[in-house]
Amino acid sequence: MSMVASGVAPREDIPFTDADFQMLAGLARREFGLDLAASKKPLVYSRLSRRVKARGLVSFADYLALVTTKGENEERLALISALTTNVTSFFREKHHFETLTTVCLRQARAKLDAGGRFRIWSAGCSTGQEPYSIAMTILAAWPDALRRDVRVLATDIDPIVVDRARQGIYSGQDAEALGKDPYRKWIRDSDDGTVSITDEPRALITFAELNLMDPWPFKGPFDAIFCRNVAIYFDQPTQQALWQRFAGLLTETGNLFIGHSERISGPAETSLQACGVTSYRKVTESETKPSNRSIQWV
Ligand SMILES: C[S@@+](CC[C@H](N)C(=O)[O-])C[C@H]1O[C@@H](n2cnc3c(N)ncnc32)[C@H](O)[C@@H]1O
Repeated sequence: MSMVASGVAPREDIPFTDADFQMLAGLARREFGLDLAASKKPLVYSRLSRRVKARGLVSFADYLALVTTKGENEERLALISALTTNVTSFFREKHHFETLTTVCLRQARAKLDAGGRFRIWSAGCSTGQEPYSIAMTILAAWPDALRRDVRVLATDIDPIVVDRARQGIYSGQDAEALGKDPYRKWIRDSDDGTVSITDEPRALITFAELNLMDPWPFKGPFDAIFCRNVAIYFDQPTQQALWQRFAGLLTETGNLFIGHSERISGPAETSLQACGVTSYRKVTESETKPSNRSIQWV
């Protein structure tokens, strides 16, 4: 029987005081925008006590000193990996990919044919299933995408998952979510039971490390931004600032897709309008201007 099931609190073999927790929560908020409410103290303990031991330390005070040491990037990234989850899958929340096809790709085709560009950002891409699903959706709708100015940017704060995304190798079980046609043609089976993504979807994507809390080294604009199941870790002011930054980076007809338990709130509500389940479209300039028809002329 587990300790929790028997009602006995797990013993903390490394002391974890409220002050330790507050210091860690402050660091996680400042550096990564993470919201660690007091109720998360046991979870933080269980995830980070492993890191304390792995680094051969005996107290959280030592661990805090380590992660705040200038240049100690490795442990800071291990810290965010321990505090967030990388859970993802191919075509997660399928309806977003349907909207991508029926709305975003459909309305952008004329622009593409006129020599224009098409850009999508998968922000918080984890191990890559999301950007590969985007690339496959594009290729299914636009078989000529590789000869056009079409790119997908895929970023995550965690270099380990970005590396795995770049490799594009998945278990056969992961690949089941791709179904058969038309996506199956963009994966290759290996003898060891894994599958790898073929060159075509890969060629559309640029992978990079990026902390969403930092300045973004690009200006956009993006025809669509996927930032799903990432902001859920952030406190409300951080989320609201993020929505506002995304809205500023979308094209006039751009769409934002967010996670199933996330909602747009704050100042971005005036520039983003719900157009489906957790899908938003940019409100055009003409929609925000007062209508001439409302002028009462006498
Ligand atoms: C649950 S995964 C979501 C993956 C994918 N978007 C999906 O919905 O399937 C959350 C990802 O957000 C990333 N993340 C958390 N905080 C971040 C931050 N401040 N900047 C960039 N990425 C962050 C994590 O590293 C993790 O890979």
